[in-house]
Amino acid sequence: MDVIETERLVLRPFTQDDAPALFELFSLPEVARWSGTGQPMTDVSEAIARIERMPERAGGHPAAGLFATVRRGTGAFVGMTLLVRIPSSAGNDREDHEIGWHLHPDAWGHGYATEAATALVQRGFDAGMPRLVAVTNPDNIRSQAVCHRLGMTDLGLTSDWYDRELRAFSLDHRRCD
Ligand SMILES: CC(C)(COP(=O)(O)OP(=O)(O)OC[C@H]1O[C@@H](n2cnc3c(N)ncnc32)[C@H](O)[C@@H]1OP(=O)(O)O)[C@@H](O)C(=O)NCCC(=O)NCCS
Repeated sequence: MDVIETERLVLRPFTQDDAPALFELFSLPEVARWSGTGQPMTDVSEAIARIERMPERAGGHPAAGLFATVRRGTGAFVGMTLLVRIPSSAGNDREDHEIGWHLHPDAWGHGYATEAATALVQRGFDAGMPRLVAVTNPDNIRSQAVCHRLGMTDLGLTSDWYDRELRAFSLDHRRCD
């Protein structure tokens, strides 16, 4: 998995050296509440295990990945952004990829999520993905605002992915030829 550079950020593969920063991120209730079980991590071993599972979580597409997202220059950890195969709900056989973002609260309000996600959209489309989706907890206004900034279409509430009702957004790759 290669490295992506944007104006202010570097998106790079996680290594186990990132486990303390990933643990700190997902130990924060205001971050953890919006993903997975909603439970904050309580031990760094959970971050270590998550990093180990990342290749499997990304799915098999060569452009997919979970990215340690850091500031250019300083390398300061900003959060995790992702372009991964999205798990379909039972009965939905679509093969979509999702974009996602989980930033440390210290990094909110600077446009970093939108900047990183814009690069991931480009990466996905360049790699031939026809459509990208994002799914949000229905109450996650900040994340939905990122989707709107990216120009995504609001699909409303759907249970197509993750076997739960989420508010989903999509973006189609429009060919120019
Ligand atoms: C969702 C989340 C990533 C959104 O972060 P964010 O910083 O609000 O989003 P953006 O990167 O798009 O930044 C937009 C904000 O930065 C401001 N901003 C400042 N400088 C900016 C710049 N140069 N460019 C763009 N926006 C800028 C915008 O005005 C906007 O501010 P506002 O929130 O006051 O309107 C963040 O809240 C988060 O990590 N939450 C916890 C985890 C989570 O919910 N993940 C999503 C699960 S679906």
